[in-house]
Amino acid sequence: MFKHAKNVRQLSYSICCHQKLKNLKGKKKSSQEWLIRQNTDEYVKLAKIENYRARSAFKLIEMDDHYRFLRPGQTVLDCGAAPGAWSQVLAKRTNANGEQVEKRVGKVMAVDLSPFHPIVGVTSFPLSDFTSPETQKQILETIDSKFDVIVSDMAPKVSGMNSLDHEIIIDLCRKVVRFSECALKPNGTLLMKIFDGGLTKDLEKILVNMFHKVKYVKPDSSRKNSAEIYFLCLKFKIKLSNT
Ligand SMILES: C[S@@+](CC[C@H](N)C(=O)[O-])C[C@H]1O[C@@H](n2cnc3c(N)ncnc32)[C@H](O)[C@@H]1O
Repeated sequence: MFKHAKNVRQLSYSICCHQKLKNLKGKKKSSQEWLIRQNTDEYVKLAKIENYRARSAFKLIEMDDHYRFLRPGQTVLDCGAAPGAWSQVLAKRTNANGEQVEKRVGKVMAVDLSPFHPIVGVTSFPLSDFTSPETQKQILETIDSKFDVIVSDMAPKVSGMNSLDHEIIIDLCRKVVRFSECALKPNGTLLMKIFDGGLTKDLEKILVNMFHKVKYVKPDSSRKNSAEIYFLCLKFKIKLSNT
């Protein structure tokens, strides 16, 4: 689907070496499957080579390479940031890390329930629940203007009950949408992960009223057997109160 993903595949195929997995004995079947998947996944290998904290970095890279919504100088909020792979990409692409000397320097705020190591150029809110009004107040107090881009890769710990996981993630998205109504600049961008299901269309209706363009995106680096997809919402237009 995306050009970058093809390059990733070619490169990672050339570096891919199928190591024999040791120490599987005595582990639960689900842990064994996870270890095998991690050890053979081309994006996991590439994340190590490119110093990203997780393979998820490539989902954001793919989506931005295709739709070009990140730029130096932007102010961006990363919801559900741990372990920090998306924030690493955001710090580079907005130049929040100051690496591109002649370009504008952006700002990245990163919030997660879990702790995560600091990232150069990123203001972190670890051990913080994005849905709590206190956290949202703290985030707003650290910026002078509104956000150009809000991204949410937040996800609950999966229960294995697809419909329950779907409902929980949609609820998280609704909270991100509500926050975006007051915190996103006109023409701003909102990117949110969902697990597809019965409530997807209801959420889409709300988004279509708020943004000029709303797209479903499934990056190549997102596992095919995962229900995850992303809503990419471009050009924020109006505020709604009924979300
Ligand atoms: C898939 S991980 C995010 C990976 C991250 N984008 C990266 O690239 O490193 C989902 C994260 O959402 C976080 N999360 C779930 N609910 C949250 C909430 N209410 N507030 C903040 N973070 C939350 C989880 O703690 C978890 O770390």
